[in-house]
Amino acid sequence: MTATRIPVNVPGSVYDVIIDRGLLGQLGPLVHEVAPSRSALLVVDKTIASTHGRAALTSLQGAGVEPIVVELVAEESQKTIETAQQVYGAMLGAGLDRSSPVIALGGGIIGDTAGFVAATYMRGVPLIQVPTTLLAMVDAAIGGKTGVNFPLPGGGLGKNMVGAFWQPKAVVVDPQVLSTLNARDFRCGLAECVKGALIADASLLQFLSTEASRILALDQDVLRTLIERCVRIKAEIVAADERESGRRALLNLGHTFAHAIESISELKVRHGEAVSIGLMAAAHCAVKTGRLTADQHNHIEQVLTTFGLPIRLPSPVDEQRLLAAMRYDKKATPGRTQLILPTGVGGAELVGDVPVEVVAAGWAGVGASVVPTA
Ligand SMILES: NC(=O)c1ccc[n+]([C@@H]2O[C@H](COP(=O)([O-])OP(=O)(O)OC[C@H]3O[C@@H](n4cnc5c(N)ncnc54)[C@H](O)[C@@H]3O)[C@@H](O)[C@H]2O)c1
Repeated sequence: MTATRIPVNVPGSVYDVIIDRGLLGQLGPLVHEVAPSRSALLVVDKTIASTHGRAALTSLQGAGVEPIVVELVAEESQKTIETAQQVYGAMLGAGLDRSSPVIALGGGIIGDTAGFVAATYMRGVPLIQVPTTLLAMVDAAIGGKTGVNFPLPGGGLGKNMVGAFWQPKAVVVDPQVLSTLNARDFRCGLAECVKGALIADASLLQFLSTEASRILALDQDVLRTLIERCVRIKAEIVAADERESGRRALLNLGHTFAHAIESISELKVRHGEAVSIGLMAAAHCAVKTGRLTADQHNHIEQVLTTFGLPIRLPSPVDEQRLLAAMRYDKKATPGRTQLILPTGVGGAELVGDVPVEVVAAGWAGVGASVVPTA
């Protein structure tokens, strides 16, 4: 089978998301095609440095590219300005210039951090995203959002508070690398696939439902179809609205809740798990406001549950604490809660001023606790 190329058309540039089994072995020629240079930076997730990292390096060297390699730990606590600074230091030390591409090999944490470095080093150098998690393949690696976390004034971690839009020159997707991903991290990617279905494609939710067992068994044909369908949704939305002034905001379905959940570190949830809970919170809000029927709500819950994703907070958190954490969302407007809410399955809308009792119903639906006031 030949590689599938899905173009992402953003103002001023077009790049391809290239999808095929075994594509990691072709990384060198693919990088050379979009960013020819003898020098490069390969930022690789430490966990996969000796496996996929080695394969990537061999391919790059075979194409005449001699990258410096920086290994990073893929943890939210490491997705910081300090990590970016260390990478700048390595790049300067190796004499990398503005033509040297940054190649990000890893999940969303590596892609976001390395992407931010690429956006800012010498005011921007070419970036190639090589996602190795399902979540990054269908979402994080596409669309040019890069960034790092930053501590919030009230405590906790402000997700992606410092960042830049910086589009890659190419996104290289080899679904075979998912064979080494653990089940929990694989499921996290499925949460973003469900999100894509909810905002843009009801038939994709049906596909996820009927093909669940083959997806969970990593059937390569079904996986490839799933990745391609999700990438097309993301590519279409990003092309319509690169800087998130309209339609792209729909991709944040569930994320205002998710970012609040992620800021509470003792919950110890992964991004994809927080998104899953956030999707359910948004679904509760949508039922309360007549945008979603109980049957549709139950179908979403059933698909997430089939994939082993959480639909409630792992332990009760005070609703007031969650409401406060939501105010630090980058899309927040003082005094108002903006939310993306589903309108049936396959559509969603930005609601500019959601009444607090509706937001509270969303949190209550996923198990937040209400501390009685004296
Ligand atoms: N930029 C965007 O548009 C965007 C969109 C969605 C999410 N994100 C960000 O993405 C991050 C989450 O990304 P993620 O879910 O990919 O997580 P991740 O990068 O933390 O990776 C998850 C885990 O899988 C491991 N791993 C990665 N690839 C592997 C492989 N092939 N085999 C074995 N282990 C592997 C990592 O070491 C890590 O432990 C969050 O920081 C989130 O904010 C960004």
